[in-house]
Amino acid sequence: MGKIILTGDRPTGKLHLGHFVGSLRRRVELQNSGEFERIFIMIADAQALTDNADNPDKVRQNIIEVALDYLSCGLDPEKSTLFIQSQVPELCELAFYYMNLVTVQRLQRNPTVKTEIQLRGFSENTNEGDTTQRQGIPVGFFTYPISQAADITAFKATTVPVGADQEPMIEQTREIVHKFNSVYGETLVEPEILLPDNAACLRLPGTDGKAKMSKSLGNCIYLSDSAEDVRKKVMTMYTDPNHLRVEDPGQVEGNTMFTYLDAFSTPEHFEKYLPDYASLDELKAHYRRGGLGDVKVKRFLIAVLNEILDPIRERRHYFEQRIEEVYSVLERGSAIARATAAETLNDVRNSMRINYFADKELINEQAERFRNSSN
Ligand code: TRP
Repeated sequence: MGKIILTGDRPTGKLHLGHFVGSLRRRVELQNSGEFERIFIMIADAQALTDNADNPDKVRQNIIEVALDYLSCGLDPEKSTLFIQSQVPELCELAFYYMNLVTVQRLQRNPTVKTEIQLRGFSENTNEGDTTQRQGIPVGFFTYPISQAADITAFKATTVPVGADQEPMIEQTREIVHKFNSVYGETLVEPEILLPDNAACLRLPGTDGKAKMSKSLGNCIYLSDSAEDVRKKVMTMYTDPNHLRVEDPGQVEGNTMFTYLDAFSTPEHFEKYLPDYASLDELKAHYRRGGLGDVKVKRFLIAVLNEILDPIRERRHYFEQRIEEVYSVLERGSAIARATAAETLNDVRNSMRINYFADKELINEQAERFRNSSN
């Protein structure tokens, strides 16, 4: 059996360099490797609504932003099926059945759900006398790992390329698959997670050196940023706060500009933009010794980032002028995704023996039972 990919993103903002190193770049490579029979890339709008109930406009608008980011990065609708989650209602039905295979306690133990509850400020103990106005946990949010299991299994995905934060979701999906198959017989496929391979790519810090790029922290470089935006953001990037004069020895670890170079620079970039150094290791060694100023390193980083982002910007500009076409791509993709999910749903219904009207054997069995009892 061929290998199948399913992955996706919540449309809550434009995609940034963190997404690019963490997932987008890899997806394009996987797409072009020819190693996969089918590839499904989903814009998870329904999942985005689980913690954006008050902000449906944001989700709706970001669907097209994310689609533009996908196409600009080189995801090709001829090779990958790009679709919108809410347009595949079969996913809801699958999730509805899976809900019976998961306990509340198990969901409460899901580490990603736990962290997100804290991040979102949802409270586990609200009561009527609560004057702090904290919000309770939306049921849809609490159960989204189950909906994610539906997303993955609907396409019989063998491979789910995602970041490390998604590991608990894949684990939970595997448990659901296991449980379903043991109750109803072999039906669903147990997926495997595919983590980013380069350690520097696991999590790209924000330009302020904080652990993660996040829109609310204002520390992102977006794929749609202009060359001038990128220049400004890199120029104010967090480096080594103790590296005050050029002569001072500098620290490379935890220095954001070097983390970015780890993630993006290649020997060809050095040849082209910084030929005095053969490699990143040489550049780092000079920085550690002292005598290398931040500005020189930053100029190099700007050149590297803009070289990577230029073709992405160009394609984005092209598709921005053809928004109707982008919606058509998503519409065609959603129809294909729906047909695939419907096949799996049919398998699931067959295994559960709830396809009552198509199951002639079942009807006969029941008829027989009543004929016998009335004799
Ligand atoms: N939870 C993912 C995120 O936060 C988005 C997502 C929804 C997803 N369903 C998925 C990822 C299925 C992989 C597989 O970005």
